[in-house]
Amino acid sequence: MREEDGRKAKKITIQDLQTKKDLGEKIVRVTCYDYPMALLADRAGVDSVLVGDSLGMVVLGRENTVAVTMEEMIHHCRAVTRAVKHALVIGDLPFLSYQTSVQDAIRNAGRLLKEGNVDAVKLEGGKEFASTVRAIVEAGIPVVGHIGLTPQTVSKLGGFKVQGKDADAAKKILADAVSLEQAGAFMLTIECVPDRLAKLICERLIIPATGIGSGPYTDGQSLSLYDMIGLFDRFTPKFVKQYADVSEIILNALEEFSREVRKGSFPMQDHCFTLNDEVLKKVLDDVG
Ligand code: KIV
Repeated sequence: MREEDGRKAKKITIQDLQTKKDLGEKIVRVTCYDYPMALLADRAGVDSVLVGDSLGMVVLGRENTVAVTMEEMIHHCRAVTRAVKHALVIGDLPFLSYQTSVQDAIRNAGRLLKEGNVDAVKLEGGKEFASTVRAIVEAGIPVVGHIGLTPQTVSKLGGFKVQGKDADAAKKILADAVSLEQAGAFMLTIECVPDRLAKLICERLIIPATGIGSGPYTDGQSLSLYDMIGLFDRFTPKFVKQYADVSEIILNALEEFSREVRKGSFPMQDHCFTLNDEVLKKVLDDVG
């Protein structure tokens, strides 16, 4: 579906996403961080946009997501929510904005809603964060849980690796999913777990769970828009399908611009503002 203008479309609600799961329809989510990309995502009719803390790597050039701050998240959430009128917007709670205390978690989740204008927040972690999720939900803030590969604890996990490959790890991730649902999360993100574990989780849950790098059986798919269009320079994870090579288009445009500037074929008369002869004469008379 292409919405001619996302602004005319009805706003997607949490209930709409639940209905999609109930009807067996897939949920489409992309991660983006800025106004022009969010505008395009909304026009394309995606169901949800995540303002991910992956912005630390993708648009701020850092090694991982750990250093992302609340101020950075709010700044990017505002840019995205100015553009999106249709999709449900989720903002990531950055590292140490919710781990320090339940009060901090509620306060910071509230800031993403009040200052970033998002519809819901996402936080990483399983069972150990169930009481935090419950408290945020009880404060009236919708929460998405994030299990499997949790990039904020990438050092503890030993790198960006597939999670839940042995029976104990798989059982823990399944238990995490169930406890987040019981705590009141309305949706989960399952990142980088084997396909049949993701399937099992989705079958056990009432709430929808979208996957990223977790195979085809999840209730929906999520990718970073920048990965999909070839705009992240560092690496392309195995699970990403690149739908376009926008870097190549931008490079070509920049090279052509450079060539034209150097040989003087840009700007042409069409790109100029003209000064009428009378004004020019007056200026020359005055300045000599
Ligand atoms: O920050 C992000 O982009 C995410 C996705 C990996 C789900 O959390």
